[in-house]
Amino acid sequence: MDKILIYGSRPLSGSTKVSGSKNSSLPILAATLLTRERCVVQGVPDLSDTHYMLQILTYLGAQVERASGTVSVAAEKVQSVAPYDVVRKMRASVCVLGPLLGRCKEATVSLPGGCVIGDRPIDLHLKGFEALGATVRVKGGNIKVFAPKLAGAVINMQGRFGPTVLGTDNVMMAAVLADGMTVIEEAAQEPEVVDLANFLNEMGAKIEGAGTRRIIIEGVSALHGTEHRVIPDRIEAGTFLVAGAIAGKGVTVARVKPEHVCSVTDALARCGFRIEIGADWISVSPNGDASPLELATEPYPGFPTDMQAQMCALVSTSRGTSFVTENIFPRRYMHVAELKRMGAQVQLDGATAVIQGVDRLLGAPVMASDLRASAALVLAGLKADGITEVSRVYHIDRGYERLDEKLSDLGAHIERVKAA
Ligand code: EPU
Repeated sequence: MDKILIYGSRPLSGSTKVSGSKNSSLPILAATLLTRERCVVQGVPDLSDTHYMLQILTYLGAQVERASGTVSVAAEKVQSVAPYDVVRKMRASVCVLGPLLGRCKEATVSLPGGCVIGDRPIDLHLKGFEALGATVRVKGGNIKVFAPKLAGAVINMQGRFGPTVLGTDNVMMAAVLADGMTVIEEAAQEPEVVDLANFLNEMGAKIEGAGTRRIIIEGVSALHGTEHRVIPDRIEAGTFLVAGAIAGKGVTVARVKPEHVCSVTDALARCGFRIEIGADWISVSPNGDASPLELATEPYPGFPTDMQAQMCALVSTSRGTSFVTENIFPRRYMHVAELKRMGAQVQLDGATAVIQGVDRLLGAPVMASDLRASAALVLAGLKADGITEVSRVYHIDRGYERLDEKLSDLGAHIERVKAA
């Protein structure tokens, strides 16, 4: 398994470009199953998660071609069963359920297990399919959904921890080919949901309201091929902004949609960093000592859970005491024990991390546990004295395109040690 070594305390400066969004690409690639015609998706990042999704599409019968960030999928014929071996590597593979149900009126997909960030149930996805008229059966670790026909319905996507992103996506993808009108209430408002709705509309769907709490879908009889470019990855953008804040003299993050990362730039400004915003770039630079922060994760447009770990790394060395509360995945704190190994002072009080800023972090061998926790450890390593060795780098490769190379271009001393 590869490792990443970070020789800390080297100031970052310059500019980096954000890749296409992982969490847009995954459902959009799944949505290509909804038509027999060829779809071309541009800006798909080169990540293990996007590779897994293409493997699943290929298994299901699609012809897939990939040249750099451009992926072409032609799903002239598809089969509707995705077994454990094919889907187990990635929880987001659950988002083939909606398009398969929409197109084939049946789908069998192995149930996603829990993961280190929490239980990850899919009850709301299934409730949505049932409302559209599908029967749901769980047997032998597989989930089977089938319906003689799908009919529009009113569906509420609110769960205990807010609306569900992939659940909203899944129901939207099933409903575009249902008879009549579907109304999704308490829909997730994330930009990735809007990107998927735009893609589906470009395929001939009739969706209104994506990005608001109510999405209205008028079913159509068929969709056609299209070409689409995915939005920039707002979590990668946020991660580089925090990198600039934690270790930068002045870092610009380019090819970003600033409106998608307002909650992150607001939080950094509250910490005292100087933020400048252009049409498609944001720069961050130090402005004296960083202040402590009170922060809580919320569904979009609130502060993203996918940036919580990185902020914990940042405030580990701010003055005073910071409070970071995780409202979406209350157990998403795998990074805390590792940050503590680097000298951070963090206490968990339920879903709140109470972080007493220290003057310096010290490099240490640490283990990546999930994608964003791993990014947080790399960021902490940029600030730490000495060498930080992050193992299990495959977690980072699931969701950050060339993170080590991009940080190196900004002046970090970082190297990847290839597994023998
Ligand atoms: N939930 C339910 N029932 C459901 C579905 C979700 O109770 O049927 C709960 C979850 O347990 C959680 C909350 O609802 O407490 C929100 O989960 P959501 O369904 O929105 O998560 P997701 O759609 O499975 C996507 C991203 C995650 C991101 C979350 C929240 C993708 C591929 N994944 O997951 O991204 O953390 O939304 O914003 O889009 C990541 O990129 O590192 C990542 C984990």
